[in-house]
Amino acid sequence: MLMNLLELAKQRYSVRLFSNKEIEKEKVDYLLEVARMAPSAVNLQPWSFLVLQSEEAKKDIQACYDRDWFKTAPLYIVVCGNHLASWKRASDNKDHCDIDIAIATEHIALAAAEQGLGSCWVCNFDSVLCKKLMQLPEGIEPMVILPIGYADQQAVVKEKNRKNTEDIVLYL
Ligand SMILES: Cc1cc2nc3c(=O)[nH]c(=O)nc-3n(C[C@H](O)[C@H](O)[C@H](O)COP(=O)(O)O)c2cc1C
Repeated sequence: MLMNLLELAKQRYSVRLFSNKEIEKEKVDYLLEVARMAPSAVNLQPWSFLVLQSEEAKKDIQACYDRDWFKTAPLYIVVCGNHLASWKRASDNKDHCDIDIAIATEHIALAAAEQGLGSCWVCNFDSVLCKKLMQLPEGIEPMVILPIGYADQQAVVKEKNRKNTEDIVLYL
């Protein structure tokens, strides 16, 4: 089904229960290619994507976010930011790494939804443990974990609960 961006944005939701169906390799490649096309400040692309598929790697990441639903994912992408490579604004030295990583992450989440896959942003994980288990070098921060897979039939689809346009948009 061909969806426009609004339809896709409405369709994507946080999937918190996955079926055990494996994700096709072409779909994983597609998600990573969409991520690679994300914009970034000064085009510095201060990111790396850890694709966790092996039982060992999955056990490690599951130890960083101990939830039953999280363990049902057949694959995880850990989106890492490189603070040594990201743009710092001259006027106030603001590090734009988080912004760049957020864009790339949402590219993946939307691409997954487009491909009939589910995902969920996870930031509430033990990042110190994750950094250690993934053996990430200095300056590289694991920022978001995206568990990805086909949604289980029992996955709860919550109604979109969003603020009203008039409460968040200001025309000046
Ligand atoms: C930056 C960020 C961090 C999040 N961290 C978590 C998390 O740690 N665990 C979780 O279950 N959901 C997490 N979420 C998912 C949000 O709860 C979810 O996107 C929000 O409730 C809206 O629901 P929807 O994604 O189904 O539209 C996170 C979302 C974002 C954008």
